[in-house]
Amino acid sequence: MGGTSASRRATPLLVMTLVGALVGTAGCAGIGMFRQARESAAVPERPLSRPIDADLLRHRLVAQQPEWPTGRLPAGPGFRTVDCSRIKCVALTFDDGPGKYTARLLDILAAHNARATFFVIGRNITREARPHLVRMVAEGHEIGNHTWSHPDLTRLSPAKLAEEMAKTNRLVKAYTGTEPHTLRPPYGTTNARVAKEAKRQGLAQILWTIDTNDWQERKTDVVVKRVTAAKPGAIVLLHETAATTVAGVPKMLEYFNRQGYTYVTISELFGEQYLQPGEKYREHAGMIQ
Ligand code: NI
Repeated sequence: MGGTSASRRATPLLVMTLVGALVGTAGCAGIGMFRQARESAAVPERPLSRPIDADLLRHRLVAQQPEWPTGRLPAGPGFRTVDCSRIKCVALTFDDGPGKYTARLLDILAAHNARATFFVIGRNITREARPHLVRMVAEGHEIGNHTWSHPDLTRLSPAKLAEEMAKTNRLVKAYTGTEPHTLRPPYGTTNARVAKEAKRQGLAQILWTIDTNDWQERKTDVVVKRVTAAKPGAIVLLHETAATTVAGVPKMLEYFNRQGYTYVTISELFGEQYLQPGEKYREHAGMIQ
């Protein structure tokens, strides 16, 4: 490490987090890596080792200092225009969080440069969980609404139905500055009334192509096998509350990386303009062959 002992004393947190982020991002440490990354970007051939992703590094630094005021957050990687009728896309979705495995899952996704959509339950957004939500947005993931308390929406009174959606949206917006525009109805149960309320609140209903049944069948190999059966344009339903699922995510990502998939959020899968509030979506129509 460079720097005088005086500067190290002055900024110990920054130096430590910088080293930590470098180790976590590229498996190596040292300020010299910045120079190397810049040089390798100028070389036309693909470098053998992955250069440091400056954006990712920035976001990891922010993630490690959750007490930073959100107003000082750098802008996230943001929404990308991805044409999933031309390239192989997969939309991984993780339901029922945030929870005790969220940080680990975010680390795994970051290490693979993968993004996903988190359908969060409002009442799980505790004070301790707030930094996870900030990190999701900072690292390019999408936060979707999975209601306030996970009820069967078709059985609720109109007032309660509206509240289940609105409370979670309000809370996510309060902590992250972004408001969900996708809803995953618990158990996938929905009807015309739910659709109408979702439309009123600007939420598209997102179901799934592949149901891994991972919340029930807690076997990592079985879940990985189901996920890797995905075809381009698939929405994969997973639960971040299952340790067995989180343990299998590296294998899933290694598989999709080998197959040349692009990880997309739900909004990227369909294109933000295309998602219509109240409508139901199960998959992207697929690639044009
Ligand atoms: Ni759920």
